[in-house]
Amino acid sequence: MAEQLILALDQGTTSTRAILFDATGAALADATRPLRQSYPADGWVEHDAEEIFAACVAVLREAMETSGRAVSDVVAIGVTNQRETVVVWDKSTGRPIHPAIVWQDRRTADVCDRLRSDGHEARVAEVTGLLLDPYFSGPKIAWILDRVQGARARAQAGELLCGTIDSWVIWRLTAGKVHATDATNASRTLLFDIEAQAWSPPMLELFDVPANLLPRVLDCADDYGVTATEILGREVPIRGVAGDQQAALMGQGCIRPGQMKATYGTGCFMLINTGEARPVSRSRLLTTVAARVAGKTTYALEGSIFVAGAAVQWLGEGLGITGGPRAAEALARTARPDHGVVVVPAFTGLGAPWWDAGARGAIFGLTRDAGLAEIAAATFDSCALQSRDLIEAMRADAPDAFGDDAQLRIDGGMSKSAWFSQRLADLTGMRVQRASYLETTALGAALFAGLGAGLYASEDEAVAARPTAEALTPGLGLHEREAAYARWLDAVPRVRS
Ligand code: G3P
Repeated sequence: MAEQLILALDQGTTSTRAILFDATGAALADATRPLRQSYPADGWVEHDAEEIFAACVAVLREAMETSGRAVSDVVAIGVTNQRETVVVWDKSTGRPIHPAIVWQDRRTADVCDRLRSDGHEARVAEVTGLLLDPYFSGPKIAWILDRVQGARARAQAGELLCGTIDSWVIWRLTAGKVHATDATNASRTLLFDIEAQAWSPPMLELFDVPANLLPRVLDCADDYGVTATEILGREVPIRGVAGDQQAALMGQGCIRPGQMKATYGTGCFMLINTGEARPVSRSRLLTTVAARVAGKTTYALEGSIFVAGAAVQWLGEGLGITGGPRAAEALARTARPDHGVVVVPAFTGLGAPWWDAGARGAIFGLTRDAGLAEIAAATFDSCALQSRDLIEAMRADAPDAFGDDAQLRIDGGMSKSAWFSQRLADLTGMRVQRASYLETTALGAALFAGLGAGLYASEDEAVAARPTAEALTPGLGLHEREAAYARWLDAVPRVRS
């Protein structure tokens, strides 16, 4: 019998990647393209949507070619993507009318501030699970419609379409036949009612986005049409879609309440599955759709740290520690264990649960014998201590989900370091499971696609295909752990704006 393969397409913020998996979750081949970043004004971040699509096609083809496998063996494609980033395009020409506005872009901050001061935030949070922040898609779409000449009128006339990156890529892969998104991506737009699982008319009105531009919202494992023949030489069904953090949640096997993962990239995204009950956060975490499979929605609480791996980068670029992250780690490991230095890497403000855009970084607790080693150690620790902030917020918001056996599943660049992973366990007091296969985002997209293609009968069966992980238990004494967290909690208010 022919092998049954799944091709995952991971369109991320800085790169586009395709990975070919077999049904056991083993990666057979991959291909990557970097993505150009454009910063046309202070706080603005854009991508070229055409470049994104071209890169998607290129990596899909290259992954197939290097694998030496036949396209006819690919039973499904799974798409996962940087979330919140939006594209508005012309329905008839297929051309974007403006560069994609990236999730990091702050140009709509004033709209969000105005809506907040007009008292809309509580209602927005109730419907969408999100906060009024320029991070999310809705205001970005309205910005394009208002600033591109004639766009509003063309939108009203039904000439334009919009969507997050998944919608854009799927629309182009299917030669304009399918305009769809999945519930996880929809839940990041500020336009989606996460309870009703439908676009919200009051939110569309509030953010001034016409409904006729928006994609249909499907399940994460669903029928997203087939790729046009010219993409891979024959039609291939697209059967799975999820935003990248939700795909990683799946790739980490977090399908039950209480299961949680953190991805340590430039920043860190932590999500805890809270099951079918939609949680309400009192700690300024986001409530988001974890997955929608066979019409059943599961929810998650999400917290993000803006600076994680970027803090380690700063050790090189800002403090001149040469030799990359490994050298920084080696130096950090020589620090006096009782140094007491605290680094708060609030370079671009503080994310959850503080949400303080005006906060700036600082170093505390310097003594005459503290040097670069201690600052490096405190910088690595800051990633673990910020994680602890998120864990505490999640514990407060979802006490039922947090059992004694709670453990944090980790992936992303920083999890490659066994030392940091252990430090994370030590400083959070959580058992940590370190993924042995780090491309959990692509794996999750493949698992959703496999489900959608009927390769797996259930989510349980899909996640059973995951590679095993390494388990780490906290080693630090309770007193030392709590003292370190107390120092952190003392430092953070001092950097607030
Ligand atoms: O919410 C933004 C997130 O989806 C971006 O992830 O991995 O592309 O930086 P990444």
